[in-house]
Amino acid sequence: MRGYQTHEAFWADVSMYFKMIVRAFILGLTIQVMILLIGLYGIQGGLNNLYVVGTQTKMPSTVAIKYYTGFGGVFSGNYIPVEPELQGYAKNNTKLPVDVYRNFVDWLTDNAYKNTQKKMHHWFYLSFLGYIATVLYLVIFISTSKKIEDEKFLRGAKVTPIAVLNKKLAEEAEKNPLSTLKIGDTILPYEMEPKHLLILGTAGSGKSVLLNQLAAQINQRKVQNQTGDRCIFYDLKGEFAAKQYREDLDLIFSPFDARSLGWNIFNELEILPDYDVIAKSLYLSSDPKDEYWYNCAKDVFRTGLVYLKMNNKTRNKDLWEFFSQTLEEIQAAFRTLPLSERGALKHIDKGDSPAAASIVSILQERIQFFRYLVDTDGDFSFRKFIRQSKNNTPQPNLYILNIEQYETIFKPLMTLAIDTMIRETLSLPDDLNRRIFFIIDELGTLYKMNSILKLETVGRSKGACLICANQDLGRIEEQYGKANLKSFFNNFNTNITFRIREPETAEFLSKAIGEQQLVKMMQSRQMSPSEMGDRKSFSEQERTERLIIPTEFQTQEDLEAIINIANFGISHIEVPRIFYKDRYPHFVMREFAPLATTPEPETVVAEEEVNKPVEAEKKADKFDLVSI
Ligand SMILES: Nc1ncnc2c1ncn2[C@@H]1O[C@H](COP(=O)(O)OP(=O)(O)OP(=O)(O)O)[C@@H](O)[C@H]1O
Ligand SMILES: [Mg+2]
Repeated sequence: MRGYQTHEAFWADVSMYFKMIVRAFILGLTIQVMILLIGLYGIQGGLNNLYVVGTQTKMPSTVAIKYYTGFGGVFSGNYIPVEPELQGYAKNNTKLPVDVYRNFVDWLTDNAYKNTQKKMHHWFYLSFLGYIATVLYLVIFISTSKKIEDEKFLRGAKVTPIAVLNKKLAEEAEKNPLSTLKIGDTILPYEMEPKHLLILGTAGSGKSVLLNQLAAQINQRKVQNQTGDRCIFYDLKGEFAAKQYREDLDLIFSPFDARSLGWNIFNELEILPDYDVIAKSLYLSSDPKDEYWYNCAKDVFRTGLVYLKMNNKTRNKDLWEFFSQTLEEIQAAFRTLPLSERGALKHIDKGDSPAAASIVSILQERIQFFRYLVDTDGDFSFRKFIRQSKNNTPQPNLYILNIEQYETIFKPLMTLAIDTMIRETLSLPDDLNRRIFFIIDELGTLYKMNSILKLETVGRSKGACLICANQDLGRIEEQYGKANLKSFFNNFNTNITFRIREPETAEFLSKAIGEQQLVKMMQSRQMSPSEMGDRKSFSEQERTERLIIPTEFQTQEDLEAIINIANFGISHIEVPRIFYKDRYPHFVMREFAPLATTPEPETVVAEEEVNKPVEAEKKADKFDLVSI
């Protein structure tokens, strides 16, 4: 059956092309005939008004036929009868041989018929121009038949060639000389920066390579133009600190890093409402089911902070020791507070209840990191760091390192730090010339921050630029919920998507980029064995299809990406292979004080044994707190 179908399809095509050629030929022939008729009409007009030269004798109309055909009549043989009015010029001959007749007529008319014959030849050759129409007919129909099979774009999104997108962006970028951020030849206009950038891609697809290029460009602009741009990096691998850090200017915050700033939570607490904000930031639940417990823990933590402040115990050690007490001790401390500050007592007054145990467990889990801050107090304040921004002198960048090895310990602290800086940024006065870049690698490794959604929507007027890189959207959805994920995603005006392995993210992105409506020429065939060849018919059908299908995201090579810039277009882009060398170590482990050992229980020992160092003490000298 397949063989028959192929055979029929071949003959259908042959017969269609044959029909087309025949029609084209008929068109050419018709035009040729028309040209000839026009020529003949003109010639005939001329011949009708011919006179014997120098006389009033009009040449009879029959002369032309006899002259051109050599036909003088059925019975005339090789002779041509001379018209009666011309016989006088022919010495009264009534017949002349064909050649003599022609010479006679030429002599009478001064070669008028001979010249006309030449003209007729010209018209004849000219008539073949009619076949140009044949060629045009074929060219036009063959090319349109090819086009017809293509899809015609109707409406919706469209993939823009990268050169076109680059041109549009370059025109926009001309408005501001500070438009210096680029991905290869693609400029990100200055005004687009605070409309945020989301970079997605699986491990090794190119996110960090791109982030490093952007960070290097921001730093270069800062120095060249003396701008006050600052970057806050959330750096899981220490790779930005290794490649972009500048010892003379930049700051590092990472409690286990020897280069870290010293910090104390009370540096962030200026007025009473700050206590609520900080406590809320530490105890924000991703799951609405747990919200009640997290709120209780937040209340207890907040009240603890108030207690510590009122008792002038504001070192990290004080905080850690306070919350390491028994529940009864914490209750007793809270009871010393003024009545208005004792609200949290109700959550923990039944010390042995499962509810109190849950609250304490959540409370403890989120502040474990204070254990490692006990001897790292310092003046640094995240809020002041943001507030001290100046627009016209280079400002330090801040590298918040959360080295993967200890990531879970410091997750609440890192969330608190970034959340606090975002909130402070949002409280700054509007300034479109300020640039504070939040460059966050793997947002999903932080706890939920309500501030990030606000930063996306109202950060622009403050000059806040959020640049997030993530492997997929799964962890963000877990933290922020399905409904928030959509607005989180939509508020990034620029998306750059490298290879995505995770099918759900690929599907989400494909859907988010949208659909295009096309008109497609559809072919249908009717076959019948009784006919020579089958018949084809064509119809136009409107079709809606995804602009980028999910597998396109899944099959991109390293450093290849799809860029989607709101109001500019969607295009395929390649990140240049520019790699930066490590100039500093990713991480410098700080020294830890040796773990103090508890003295051995007193036992009766021999006199000489007393002065010997205990074996356990020797071991403890080498014992590192981190390895517990
Ligand atoms: N210095 C370098 N020299 C050559 N190739 C490099 C260099 N640095 C990165 N690459 C290549 O660039 C690609 C992208 O690497 P990149 O570090 O940007 O991945 P990523 O998307 O950040 O991954 P991850 O999620 O694991 O951080 C990789 O294929 C890597 O091999
Ligand atoms: Mg990376």
